Amino acid sequence: MSVHSPATPAEWAAYFRLRYEVLRQPWQQPEGSEHAEDDAAPTTTHALLLAPDGKALGVGRLHPSGQRQGQVRFMAVASAAQGQGVGRQILEFLEAAARRQGLTEIVLHARENAVPFYQQLGYLVVAPSHTLFGTVAHQLMRKAL
Ligand SMILES: CC(C)(COP(=O)(O)OP(=O)(O)OC[C@H]1O[C@@H](n2cnc3c(N)ncnc32)[C@H](O)[C@@H]1OP(=O)(O)O)[C@@H](O)C(=O)NCCC(=O)NCCS
Repeated sequence: MSVHSPATPAEWAAYFRLRYEVLRQPWQQPEGSEHAEDDAAPTTTHALLLAPDGKALGVGRLHPSGQRQGQVRFMAVASAAQGQGVGRQILEFLEAAARRQGLTEIVLHARENAVPFYQQLGYLVVAPSHTLFGTVAHQLMRKAL
């Protein structure tokens, strides 16, 4: 399986399940909190890597956030699959989509623990950003495409 956009109800379910398990459940957030208003917007690009059993190994999304700028959100890799290149595949899929859309820059708000991952992929810290759920500090990062 390679990275692709979710296409079937089962793939969408796997996509949002992983988003919830990695980015919401550990902070006791309610089911449904993993959804964003613009998930269904035609301009939002979703990336999914599936395991052979149909569960999601990695997910992420991109949306236009300014003139020729895109924002990556909701990057998540299943805990058992972290550190094996899945996150890189997801992010490179989204960067390729951004280039095809004519975007010249990607920004994102990285959780502190993920900052070295994004640095490894060419992103630079711009400034401290918000704190999520009262504890999860973020850094604004950017990469010129
Ligand atoms: C952050 C996350 C998406 C990275 O995905 P991943 O699949 O674990 O990362 P990869 O294996 O693709 O790593 C790509 C490169 O970054 C490096 N890297 C990843 N995490 C790192 C870390 N914490 N410290 C240093 N380097 C790191 C890897 O060593 C690898 O380097 P290489 O190119 O030399 O092989 C994933 O670990 C995750 O979902 N974490 C929990 C949720 C989260 O924080 N999401 C981000 C929200 S902003």
